[in-house]
Amino acid sequence: MCGIISYIGNSDALQVLLKGLKCLEYRGYDSAGIAIGDKTHPFQVIKAVGRVENLSQKVAQIKPAGNLGLGHTRWATHGGVTEVNAHPQVSYNGKIILVHNGVIENSATLKSLLEGKGITSKSDTDTEVLANLIAFHYESLSALPQEQRFSESVRVSLLEIQGTYGLAIICTDCPEELIGARKSSPLILGVQKDGFFLASDVSAFAGHTKEVVFLSDNEMVHIHGNHYQVQDLNNGVLTPVVQTIDWDVNFADLGSYKHYMQKEIFEQDIALKNTLLGRFSKDGSSAHLGGLQMSPHELRQVDRILLLGCGTASYACRVGEYLIERYARIPVEVECASEFRYRNAPLDKNTLVFVVSQSGETLDTLGALHEARRKGFRSLAITNVVGSTVARESDGGVYQRSGPEIGVASTKAFTGQICTLAMLALYLGRMRDMSFSEGCDFVQALQALPELVHEVLEKCDEPMRQIAHKYANYQHCFFLGRQILYPIAQEGALKLKEISYVHAEAYPTGELKHGPIALIDETMPTVILASDPSMLQKNISSMMEVKARKGKVIAIGVEGAEIPKKAYDDAIFLPKVHDAILPIITALPLQLFAYYVALERKCDVDKPRNLAKSVTVE
Ligand code: M6R
Repeated sequence: MCGIISYIGNSDALQVLLKGLKCLEYRGYDSAGIAIGDKTHPFQVIKAVGRVENLSQKVAQIKPAGNLGLGHTRWATHGGVTEVNAHPQVSYNGKIILVHNGVIENSATLKSLLEGKGITSKSDTDTEVLANLIAFHYESLSALPQEQRFSESVRVSLLEIQGTYGLAIICTDCPEELIGARKSSPLILGVQKDGFFLASDVSAFAGHTKEVVFLSDNEMVHIHGNHYQVQDLNNGVLTPVVQTIDWDVNFADLGSYKHYMQKEIFEQDIALKNTLLGRFSKDGSSAHLGGLQMSPHELRQVDRILLLGCGTASYACRVGEYLIERYARIPVEVECASEFRYRNAPLDKNTLVFVVSQSGETLDTLGALHEARRKGFRSLAITNVVGSTVARESDGGVYQRSGPEIGVASTKAFTGQICTLAMLALYLGRMRDMSFSEGCDFVQALQALPELVHEVLEKCDEPMRQIAHKYANYQHCFFLGRQILYPIAQEGALKLKEISYVHAEAYPTGELKHGPIALIDETMPTVILASDPSMLQKNISSMMEVKARKGKVIAIGVEGAEIPKKAYDDAIFLPKVHDAILPIITALPLQLFAYYVALERKCDVDKPRNLAKSVTVE
């Protein structure tokens, strides 16, 4: 949730930190701060409430200098949004300065232990308690040689804490040293000829180096001058694996778009093209998903599939359930990863588990992955971020290749997840009852998808803007969908809630009359997903029921399947498409609706209140 960037090297740290923080702002944006200094410049800590821009303005006045620095952008967990609670946090004696992503669960106990020794905190944060604990150990370890003292004080402190952390730590006595550590919160070391970076996400040092080391849980990295050493918390020295990552340094460029969400909606055609690239069998009747690391024989043994994810990813899983059950005839269960991890559900022995996560860092999804693996189930991942924790800790999987998603509200990652699950349904289906010609039709539909997405977005953009203008001031909204379009209705409602703060709820259309219809009156617009021609008459009846109670109907229909004008107030008609891609096509106008409603309501589209892009706390 919070973003960390830190630097040690021959360059001036300030520009690295500010640029890195800008890239990390999607991870949390209620306050930000930096610490900077070196052998010749005393360390300065500068913090500001609000966006990184506020910090930059403050920094421009103070002009701090140094080759060693920490930066942090916060999503508050412990303590309100104030400058005192913002990071970096500084220890009681001013020696230890650190930035933290995660939660120190036993901070209350540690705090009272420290208070018993006369050490008090100024902030409400769990992070300051850790800074104080390290500083306390640093003082007690004064007999150690100086080159070991700082790292040893960090190591013994980490052994005492419970919870999660991604940390970057400096000691003002050791201006040539930087320490990082991680447990269940990402931390990546960037290695340059004359410098090192520690960050929560590689994007924070994009353009500086492509050489990275992904730290694993319970690992520490100690950088001292031109050298670094990775070790575990038992002092075991580890051999780091340096990987070269591939990225497009222009991904953060908005181009002609106003917001990342808008850009990401409109680049879905390219994102989907990448998801599909090279993933079809030579005979054009199936998919080819080598990353699953399972032979066709092993896949034939699978009796049940369990799909796990959170938020938008959980809705993609629900779409996946319909696709896999329909096309591969394998029973599928879907559960929110945040529930599964604590539920201890009985699972059939031949169950194959998939976790779905854009970021690959969602703590609840990781918890579910660990739980499934602990029980001995083969657990695969669908994720967007190469080298993410989910990718590294699963038994295999598929990268969705949607490209970096910066807008907090997921759009292209959602359709990328569905597209990946559709390929999985096709692949598994062709191993079972799906015929060659059905497979070819499916492949052709997927191949046509990027172009179709482009056309639908072009066609719907202006009409959805107008519809959004009309409904932007309503305080509530219903989204109704049947079967595979029910999770699309859920995602439509989530998008609207997240970025425009309009109360939105989704129901299976047939459930309307079982209770929620009581809420329908002239103040309640209802978006009815009627793009599945096989359900047309049922959907028209539901529209009429809403209209009969003075409710407003926004219909998402399909060309060629006529809906009487009296059944809706506003409508968009989508092209008739293959069933496998219907959910993706239907999601598009709902993304636009949420985007334009949020604009009309003057909401911060890319950084909605209370949210962060990657949820790395519980
Ligand atoms: O990175 P993940 O896919 O694991 O994230 C899961 C959810 O936190 C995420 O989809 C969230 O619901 C988004 N804000 C949706 O727009």
